[in-house]
Amino acid sequence: MDAEHMGDKLLNVLFTEEQIQHRLAELAQEVWEDYKDKDVLLVGVLKGAVLVMADFMRALPGSAPIDFLAVSSYGSGTKSSGVVRILKDLDTDITGRHVLIVEDIIDSGLTLSWIKTNLESRGPASVEICTLLRKPEAAKVEIDVKYVGYDIPPAFVVGYGLDYDEHYRNLRVIGTLAPHVYS
Ligand code: IMP
Repeated sequence: MDAEHMGDKLLNVLFTEEQIQHRLAELAQEVWEDYKDKDVLLVGVLKGAVLVMADFMRALPGSAPIDFLAVSSYGSGTKSSGVVRILKDLDTDITGRHVLIVEDIIDSGLTLSWIKTNLESRGPASVEICTLLRKPEAAKVEIDVKYVGYDIPPAFVVGYGLDYDEHYRNLRVIGTLAPHVYS
């Protein structure tokens, strides 16, 4: 799905496919520099991070195993509830492993902060975070994020895995959802 297929539901395009690919390739290089001597496990947070994971892992100049975690935090609205529930846990035992959480977006930070604490309680060697997008103005908790693709304003965005009520994940670009769609 392209931006033009969104009609008036998309306010603007923030990042094109090319810009996203380019930034993910830069992040992958940076990550590999830090992890090349370690056996890093990439942990994607379903469903939003699926596309980020697919492109990020292929941009790495070496092999890295992956796993996925699914949590619920949003329901069908546009605000984080802060109440997190694991819907699908990891298949991998992360004891002693270097874990890199691969995320699509950090908004309030409540979800990821909870996930990071949860994974840290399992005895890994390290847990770091790589996110394509971050909304610094929306942060409600202090969270240490080692790799950030882009900082964006606090508006609600869709595309490239990001949804509104399960829609628009298959939009190729990332853009701002028009407020009339959810208000
Ligand atoms: P947080 O707990 O507020 O940081 O929200 C984290 C989760 O909310 C993300 O992993 C996304 O699934 C979702 N989310 C936050 N902001 C947006 C947005 O602008 N568009 C789509 N989903 C979002």
